[in-house]
This record gives sequence, structure tokens and C-alpha cells, in this order.
Amino acid sequence: MTDADRGSTIGDAMRRAVRNLAEAGVGGADFDTRVLMADVLGIETSSLLARRERPIEPDAEERFTAYISRRRSGEPVHRILGKRGFYGHDFELSAGTLEPRPDTEIVVEMGIAFLRTVDRDRPLRVLDIGTGSGVIALSILVALPHTHAFGTDISEDALATARRNAKRLKVDARFETSVTDYAAGITGPLDLAISNPPYIATRDIAGLSSEVRDFDPKSALDGGEDGLKAYRAIAAQVRSVLADDGSVVVEIGIDQKDPVTRIFEACGFTLSDWRKDYGGIVRALRFSREEAPCDRFR
Ligand SMILES: C[S@@+](CC[C@H](N)C(=O)[O-])C[C@H]1O[C@@H](n2cnc3c(N)ncnc32)[C@H](O)[C@@H]1O
Repeated sequence: MTDADRGSTIGDAMRRAVRNLAEAGVGGADFDTRVLMADVLGIETSSLLARRERPIEPDAEERFTAYISRRRSGEPVHRILGKRGFYGHDFELSAGTLEPRPDTEIVVEMGIAFLRTVDRDRPLRVLDIGTGSGVIALSILVALPHTHAFGTDISEDALATARRNAKRLKVDARFETSVTDYAAGITGPLDLAISNPPYIATRDIAGLSSEVRDFDPKSALDGGEDGLKAYRAIAAQVRSVLADDGSVVVEIGIDQKDPVTRIFEACGFTLSDWRKDYGGIVRALRFSREEAPCDRFR
């Protein structure tokens, strides 16, 4: 956008931005423009219409122009904003965190539904494996005050972001983090181990949209040769630290229900429940412990 292009009102600036993004082939230009302008002005998108005839302040216009230019270059809206709404809360993002997806809210719901059935005379103990920005663990902590959560990750940057999110949501006193390989070194008894692990097969990563491939950390996506590497590690690691009546809830990718179930069954778990996402794809599985110990995948 040149100086000559700049609009004197909020509505003018937005119309130009929509044209600019549409010309560059950015899908959803109208929606993105509204989200970015609302953030610049510090208001809800629903308040934009009432303000469209107001003049836009020069510093707001400068920020908005920079946002639109980044969006035009392909950067996802929530990466530009540095935050994303999830389960009713705003979560800060950073270079080391995946941008959380709405489908993962189903995993959170499944975890919360299970925890509501657990009766203890001590705080419930939850392990969120590969916590990233902390969306799963922290959403559970906000919903269930009688709960303590541990978040693990291989990314220290992600864990630092998760801790800041915990502080902002005022649950930091009930949240601990550890840089570790999935659940290695975690001690029990845990009432719930929950995870949205990396589950894309390595060979499929090149075919992902550039907004995912170029902006989400590869370590958050890459599930190894068949996409199932993390499930093998998690199934083998968590059984011995789960309470007898504890559960494991995992997010899965398309067509992973059967192979992931086989992995957990081989480690002494039974598939107890599963849920579909908003697109009708089986997205979350819950496993309960059986008596026999895990003797594979060690
Ligand atoms: C799909 S992302 C999920 C992040 C977050 N839980 C969410 O749902 O938005 C997977 C996370 O697992 C972490 N991760 C990858 N390999 C790991 C490993 N070996 N041990 C622990 N965490 C790992 C990544 O850094 C990333 O934060």
C-alpha cells in the first residue's frame, strides 16, 4: 500500500486491504481484514461496522498496513496476531508452538468429561504430553479447579509460552512443565494422560498448505515414517504411571483410529470412547488400562 492508497476512514482502509489481499490470491480476505483491523483498534470484530466512518489514526493505519503486508506474504492471521482463541480463552503463540486448531477442543472436552467421573480425595493429576502453547492442559485447569497439570515438550520455547499462558489464565500455581521426550521421567499416579502429538507422516509434510508447513514448527507436525511414532512412545511410557482407573486421551489424524488402537491395545489398554470432529472425522480416542502390562515398543 502506498501513501496515496491510504484511506482516511477505517472503512476505506479495510476496503483497500480486502482488494489488496484478494489480488494476491489470499482466500478469506474479508474475514482476515476484519480480524486484523479489530486487533489493531483493540475492539471486537462485531464493533467494526459502527466505526467504519471514523478516521483511522496514523499509528493504527501503519500497524494495519504492516499486518496486511504480512498476510499478503502468506503468514497466517493468528501468527500475525501472535495469539489464538481456544476453548474460550486467548493463548499466546510463539515460534516454538503449533497454532492450536479447533478440532483439539474435542480432545479437551473428552478429557474434561472423563475427569468429571473421577472421584479422589486429592487434586486430580493430568499430564499433557507435547503441550505446545499449553492449550489442552490450561483449558482443563480453568474448567476444573481441583486439578493439577504437568506439561511436557521438547521445545523450551513452547514451554516458556505455555507458562506465560498459565500465568495470564491465573492457573500457574497448578501447572508445571518439563522438557522431556513425551512422558519420559514423569511419575504417577496420573488420572489422565492427554496428548495432541505430532501425527503427520514425514513424507506428507511437503504436501501440507504453506500456512502449516512454513509456520508451524516441524517438530509439532512430524510423526515419523508412518505418523505413529509418538503413539508408540506414549503408549509404552504412560501405562506404568497411570492410576489403575486412569485414562489416556489422544488426538489422531485421518484414518489413524485402527492403527493407534492396535498400538495401545498391545500396551495393555482398551479403547473406551472416541469422538468425531466437526468434519465427521474420528479425532479423539480414550483408552483405559487393562491388567496386562505393556511388553512391546519399549
Ligand atoms: C501437534 S503439537 C500440539 C501442541 C498443543 N498440545 C496443541 O494441541 O496445540 C505437538 C507438540 O509435541 C511436541 N513434541 C514433539 N516431539 C516431542 C517429543 N519427543 N517429546 C515431547 N514433546 C514433543 C511439539 O514440540 C509440539 O509442541
